Amino acid sequence: MSKVEFKNISKRFGSFLANDDISFGISGNTVHCIVGENGAGKSTLMNILFGLMKPDSGEIIIADKPVVFSSPHEAITAKIGMVHQHFMLIDDFTVLENVILGDEPVKGLSLDLKAAKEKVDALIFQYKLDINSSEKVTDLSISMQQKVEILKLLYRDSEILIFDEPTAVLSPVEVSSFFKMITSFKESGKTVIVITHKLNEVREIADKVSVLRKGRLVYEADNVSGNIDINELSKAIIGGAELIKIRPKSNSNSMKKPLLRLVDVSLVRGKRKMLDGLSLELFNGEILGIAGVEGNGQSELADIVCGIEREFTGTVELPDERASIVPDDRLKKGMIKEFSIGENLVLKKDGNSLHRMSTLRKASEEVIAEYEVRAPGPDIKTGSLSGGNQQKVVIAREIASGRSVMIFSHPTRGVDINAEMFIHSEIVKERNKGKAILLISSDMEELLSLSDRLSVIYKGKIERTFDSNELYAESQMPEQQDHRKEMLINEIGKLMTGVSN
Ligand SMILES: Nc1ncnc2c1ncn2[C@@H]1O[C@H](COP(=O)(O)OP(=O)(O)OP(=O)(O)O)[C@@H](O)[C@H]1O
Ligand SMILES: [Mg+2]
Repeated sequence: MSKVEFKNISKRFGSFLANDDISFGISGNTVHCIVGENGAGKSTLMNILFGLMKPDSGEIIIADKPVVFSSPHEAITAKIGMVHQHFMLIDDFTVLENVILGDEPVKGLSLDLKAAKEKVDALIFQYKLDINSSEKVTDLSISMQQKVEILKLLYRDSEILIFDEPTAVLSPVEVSSFFKMITSFKESGKTVIVITHKLNEVREIADKVSVLRKGRLVYEADNVSGNIDINELSKAIIGGAELIKIRPKSNSNSMKKPLLRLVDVSLVRGKRKMLDGLSLELFNGEILGIAGVEGNGQSELADIVCGIEREFTGTVELPDERASIVPDDRLKKGMIKEFSIGENLVLKKDGNSLHRMSTLRKASEEVIAEYEVRAPGPDIKTGSLSGGNQQKVVIAREIASGRSVMIFSHPTRGVDINAEMFIHSEIVKERNKGKAILLISSDMEELLSLSDRLSVIYKGKIERTFDSNELYAESQMPEQQDHRKEMLINEIGKLMTGVSN
């Protein structure tokens, strides 16, 4: 018996069919992964289950009863909870205040904070969440904020937990503790639904996986003891299209000159020292990877290099023009949601700010074709694009900017496997043209496959920089390389968490 049953769910946006007659079941007591290309309809389907949208046709059956939710509130009452990719927390509130918001316990006429705190602390203990309920959200790292979102669901006794790309914002160490948490939810009888683009994660955590493509359910598989075939799964996702292969590294021996130099740079925000005597050099024709747990100064480093943060001490030498940047938070810093794709593409162009409609549309159509943006049409507002498709628009604009220093902060966050390879090959192409590229990422595979040198940032300082000889040893046999890579990841992991000090 399925806990959740989707029966012939369809959802249109205008003439665009985002969910096309989708039927499948999700059993209780399982981790069920939903995968598929950007724009395949994953978030739409989950938004329907969570009562954020109504299907045009079809029904949802929960524990054998058809349900119709008109709002998330009704879904929450039916014990469904969802953690969105963009957290919805109030920074100035404590963990406890955020958790109980909208569902405050009362005793007589007054708020029973004591009871609430007891319940929240018991949940923290039960699921080993390792978080202090009295701390303010503004002081928490991204992974901690995610725990607050999870606590909100647990506090409301949710039995069906939906996660929309939960691991995109986590470092490898955090991902493994997140997986432990998910397993403990399953063991305590809950049903966990996870949307992800990372197929090795599917193999690791899924009991079952459903693949959506262009709004339809195209493939389903059980993952009994992790035996899922990743090749078969990726074929189902991209539907027979060829995966784009990444270009090999070029070890051009042309004269290198530093395009960017930071010496002893420090930055304090509020009471926190975000950068603490950081120094680095970035040369033309190289990709410098920055590995680190999010919140260790990466976004401040990016802000300084692209010129929007000036309140630092130390020396920063930059070329005259601004650096281009793919920011860590595309919705806050990368685009204007109310603008069309074309308008977002010309957003940072200097000079004449008037653009003809036809020019905008042409720019939009080019990006839609080149990056395979799945959109109802070229004039759509970027706010209605799926997460991964929004990311593609930002990347396309920044790559086209032609600046000599480029910052890519989590460039493939939320994009599908094909787009990831395409974006990687574009970054390498820019490097080969002689651009200096700063690549900030929490995806270790991405860092190791692209970086010419790799620095680890911890508490606002560069802990260590690995040069290309340390990163790659081409003469070695494949098994030796695998071993070496494992050791390297291990070492980087320690540096990232300060364990090696
Ligand atoms: N409110 C909306 N108005 C118009 N179109 C929409 C709206 N919401 C979603 N769409 C379209 O429906 C399609 C499916 O979007 P959805 O967000 O479900 O994709 P997804 O599978 O979650 O993709 P991603 O992996 O990029 O997050 C997209 O092409 C998107 O542009
Ligand atoms: Mg989505």
